[in-house]
Amino acid sequence: DIFGNERRNSKGMNIHVAAHLDPLLNHLGQWAMTRWEAAPVIRGEKRRDGSQSDVHAPYDRSQHVGQVYWATEAMAEEALAVATEGFASWRERPAEDRADCLERYADLMEVNMQELMAICCREAGKTIQDGIDEVREAVDFCRYYALQGRSRFGKAMALPGPTGESNELYMEGRGVFLCISPWNFPLAIFTGQVMAALVAGNAVIAKPAEQTSLVAQRAFELMLEAGFPPDVIQFLPGDGATIGGKLTPDPRIAGVAFTGSTQVAHILNRTLAQREGAIVPLIAETGGQNAMIVDSSALPEQVVRDVIQSAFASAGQRCSALRVLYIQKEVAERTESLLAGAMQELMVGNPERHSTDVGPVIDQEARDGLKAHLTELGKHARLVSQAPIPEACRDGYFVPPSAYAISSINELKDEHFGPVLHIVRYTAEKLDDVIDEINAAGYGLTLGIHSRSESTAAYIERRVKVGNTYVNRNQIGAVVGVQPFGGRGLSGTGPKAGGPHYLLRFATERTRTINT
Ligand code: NAD
Ligand code: ALA
Repeated sequence: DIFGNERRNSKGMNIHVAAHLDPLLNHLGQWAMTRWEAAPVIRGEKRRDGSQSDVHAPYDRSQHVGQVYWATEAMAEEALAVATEGFASWRERPAEDRADCLERYADLMEVNMQELMAICCREAGKTIQDGIDEVREAVDFCRYYALQGRSRFGKAMALPGPTGESNELYMEGRGVFLCISPWNFPLAIFTGQVMAALVAGNAVIAKPAEQTSLVAQRAFELMLEAGFPPDVIQFLPGDGATIGGKLTPDPRIAGVAFTGSTQVAHILNRTLAQREGAIVPLIAETGGQNAMIVDSSALPEQVVRDVIQSAFASAGQRCSALRVLYIQKEVAERTESLLAGAMQELMVGNPERHSTDVGPVIDQEARDGLKAHLTELGKHARLVSQAPIPEACRDGYFVPPSAYAISSINELKDEHFGPVLHIVRYTAEKLDDVIDEINAAGYGLTLGIHSRSESTAAYIERRVKVGNTYVNRNQIGAVVGVQPFGGRGLSGTGPKAGGPHYLLRFATERTRTINT
């Protein structure tokens, strides 16, 4: 069925058990000296004629991880011409064949899991647990979309009609899709966008985030190995404004799948709207200013565990991460004090160590921006807690996990994409004001609720306008096919990634009526 209820997601790994952890650390260690290389790939050929940069680990700038050759505007033009040709044959391939390619690619990612994890760690600063989750999500996207592709695109749907007339509805690809992905899920989101577009019958130009071209390159090589034709998938590591600026105005681009900041989504939206000719879709998954509301019936210990996960896992670099924690006044003192204690236990450091809870942020710009925000908060807000950063972190981009008490979400003009939590106390009679101010912020991605009152939780859930609500648990880590993920308002256009309606937006619907 289209909901994939018969399907199983990939198997996890418990890194708290030596039998799982030891062999994994062994395998990861084997990649310690490897240097990876990324370069544009057009019609299956790697192009090293653009300018080049070195990549260093964000947790230790002395570690050289590899190098990237950047795509030029001329290469973007070439890639578009090749993909336009490739689309003509790919759209004719049976959906079954296309889905088979996705499944082979998923299998190859599992075979190469340790290498992919090693690059995620060394290039993007992902912890071991985050690396496992990253590969699993990428694999799950492939298998889920393969199943969807077969059932949605495999055969036409018969429709009713008068005697002597046959009517059918079927789906096909739109053309060349431009897929632009962020650095914070450099394998999973890169894979999810590209696979959705391909299984729906589109050719793809894949543009990974500048910061994470190496892991995207390795994934792209596995896609070619899985049998995606070299004229159908093109790879352009490069500057977003340059590649986007060249390709999005071009009428041969039949759709754009974008995940990243709301600001860039607006740029893309404007460019596509100003184009002459066909009106094409923009699928945008963007930022969040995510809140959690904790009422006085909530269990403080459980709240603290879930807040720590939601705000500080992945160094807060998840679009789903908790940014503003609303605590009802009666339980605020106790919850804050437990939270402050728990934050002191957070291990900040090298993500290669399995004991690390919080790794680095992605780059110097991110670190400097977050530190400036902390300095600003320090001037007027009350510090609740700040985790210590060990001296050994001095050569990397680390930001101390921090919690500050502020008066309202309105104090935050931007999304602060890192391990910074803002806490607001509220009184029961002001719950509606809290709901109004969260909605007025304009984002609508995730919401956490902690309450033992079902009616309160349901009341809040119905009124706060978001895409994903989580009650009495953390609010991150949406699972493919289980919590289809995506927001509204400033957080994106939908449809949800890893959900039953995602592929439809990559396709166009047709009917065929035959007078028999
Ligand atoms: P970003 O917007 O800076 O970059 C995202 C991608 O867009 C990169 O590949 C970049 O090169 C490209 N880009 C930049 N300028 C461009 C332009 N003018 N034209 C075309 N492409 C351009 O975002 P980021 O810093 O890489 O990622 C973090 C952001 O992503 C956060 O806001 C986060 O909330 C959001 N995000 C959202 C989701 C979601 O599912 N809603 C998931 C992950 C990340
Ligand atoms: N899908 C990711 C999460 O839920 C962003 O955390």
